[in-house]
Amino acid sequence: QQFDEQHRSQFHFTPPAGWMNDPNGMVYHKGEYHLFYQHNPDTTIWAPMHWGHAVSKDMIHWEHLPIALYPDSLGMIFSGSAVVDVNNTSGLGTKDNPALVAIYTYHNMEGERAGRTDFQTQGLAYSLDNGRSWQKHQANPVLKNPGIRDFRDPKVAWYEAGKKWIMTLAVADHISFYSSKNLLDWKLESDFGKGIGAHGGVWECPDLFKLPVEGSDQEKWVLLVSINPGGPNGGSATQYFIGDFDGSRFVMDRQFETTLKSKPVAEAGKGHEGIWLDYGRDNYAGVTWANVPEQDGRRLFMGWMSNWDYANVVPSEKWRSAMTIARTLSLENTPAGLRVVSKPVKELESYVAATNTLDAQTISDSLVLSDKFSAFDLSLELEPAAAGRDFAIELSNGRNQKVLVGYNASQNQYYIDRTNAGDHSFSDKFGGIQYGPRIVTDKSFNLRLVVDVASVELFADGGKTTMTAIYFPDEPFTTVRLVAAKGAYKLSSGKIVGLKSIWN
Ligand code: FRU
Repeated sequence: QQFDEQHRSQFHFTPPAGWMNDPNGMVYHKGEYHLFYQHNPDTTIWAPMHWGHAVSKDMIHWEHLPIALYPDSLGMIFSGSAVVDVNNTSGLGTKDNPALVAIYTYHNMEGERAGRTDFQTQGLAYSLDNGRSWQKHQANPVLKNPGIRDFRDPKVAWYEAGKKWIMTLAVADHISFYSSKNLLDWKLESDFGKGIGAHGGVWECPDLFKLPVEGSDQEKWVLLVSINPGGPNGGSATQYFIGDFDGSRFVMDRQFETTLKSKPVAEAGKGHEGIWLDYGRDNYAGVTWANVPEQDGRRLFMGWMSNWDYANVVPSEKWRSAMTIARTLSLENTPAGLRVVSKPVKELESYVAATNTLDAQTISDSLVLSDKFSAFDLSLELEPAAAGRDFAIELSNGRNQKVLVGYNASQNQYYIDRTNAGDHSFSDKFGGIQYGPRIVTDKSFNLRLVVDVASVELFADGGKTTMTAIYFPDEPFTTVRLVAAKGAYKLSSGKIVGLKSIWN
C-alpha cells in the first residue's frame, strides 16, 4: 500500500479510508502493540462508530487489520480500553491463554433520540486469538447508566496493591472510579474533579497511571482528562492532574492543587485554568498503552491529531485524520512544579533516510537549515545573545505558504502560527496563532520538531512544553528556515533527520 495521497501523513498512523477519531484499546500483547480507534469505515465524517484495528511492533509502522467491533443492538461502539486478563479473573480465557478484554462505551441512538439520559453504558468484548476475532459478552452492558447523559470512555487498569481492576470513567463534569475483581461486576469507589481544573466543556477519555518522579525514589499518579470544548487555544485538549491514588480515591498533590487554584477561573465555554499535556490545537483524547512489559518500563501515549472544532471538515478526501507520534511520558520537577514531560518514542529513530548535522553559527536574520525533506525530525540548541529576543522556525513551500513555530520573549510563550499555512477555508476556527507557556528558565533553548506532510509536533525544553498542530498546504513544506534578529541567537548545535515513509 502506498498511501501517498495529498495530505497523507507519511510516518503517522492514519486509517486506510473513512473517518477516525480517538485511539482506543491500546494494549501490548505478545510482541504487538494494538491500536484500535473510533472509526466509521463508510464515509469520512463521524457517524456510527466501530473500533478499527491495527498492530505494530514498534508503534511507528502499522499493519491494518479488519474492524474489531461493530455496532450492535445495544448501540454504537464508543471509546474505551483493553487489558490482558493475565490472572484470568474474568474466566473468559485460561491461565495459559489469557483473554484480551476490551471495555468500551455503548451509545444507544434510540435512547438518545427518545430523550432518555441513560443511553451510554459500558460493554465488554474479548478475544482469545491475539485480537484477531472478538466475542461480545452476553451479559452486556456490564455497567449500567445511573441516569447521567455523559457516562463514557472507560480506561481499565490492574491495581496490584489491591488485587483488583480500576475503571476510570468520564462522567460529564467529573471522573468516577469503579473497581472490580473480575472485569464484569463493577462497584463505584469515588468521584473526582467537580469544581477543579478546566471545565469549559464535557470531560472525556480519562487515563490514570503511576509514574516515577525522575531523579527521586518517589512515585506519583497522573490523571489525564480530555475536555471538549475549553482547551487552552479553543476546542478540544487534554489536561492532567498529579496526585496519589489509594485504590479508591484520587487526591491531588498540595502544590499542584495550589497552582490550579491560583489560575483564573475560566469563562463559560473557555477554559484557561487547566494544566495541559499539549498546548497545541491537535492532540485530543490520548491515553496510554496497557500491559507494556515491566522491563521496558515506559508509559507510552498516543493522541488523536485533530480537534472537534473542525475535525469533520478538514480537506483530506479518502480518510480523515491521523494520530500523534507515539510518545513516552515522564514526571519531572520544573520551576513550575512537578510536570508531565512528553518525548517522541525512540523507535522513531530507526526510520532515518538521511541525517544533516548543522554547524554552530550565529544567525544573521535568517538561515536555511534544510530544503529537501517533507518528513523530518529537527533538533536545535539555540543560545540567545541576551534575554528578551524572539525567534521562529519557518516551514515553507514554493507556494508562499508557511507555518511558524516560534518563541515570543515578551510573553515567554511558544507559538505555532498557521494563519498562512495553506487551505483553511473549510473552517473559520482553523487559522490563527496558538500559544503554550515556556516553563523553564534555562538560558538556552532545546527544541525538537517532528514534521510530517500535514503536521508539526513541537517538543520544547526536552518536552516540558509540547504543542501539536495540523495543516493543509498545497505542497508539503520542505524549506526550513531559522529566523531571528541579526546576532540575537547562536545555533550551538543542530541536526535534521529526514524520515522514511512507513508505508514503503
Ligand atoms: C472523544 C469522544 C468520546 C466518545 C467518542 C465518540 O473524542 O467524544 O467521549 O466516546 O469521541 O466517537
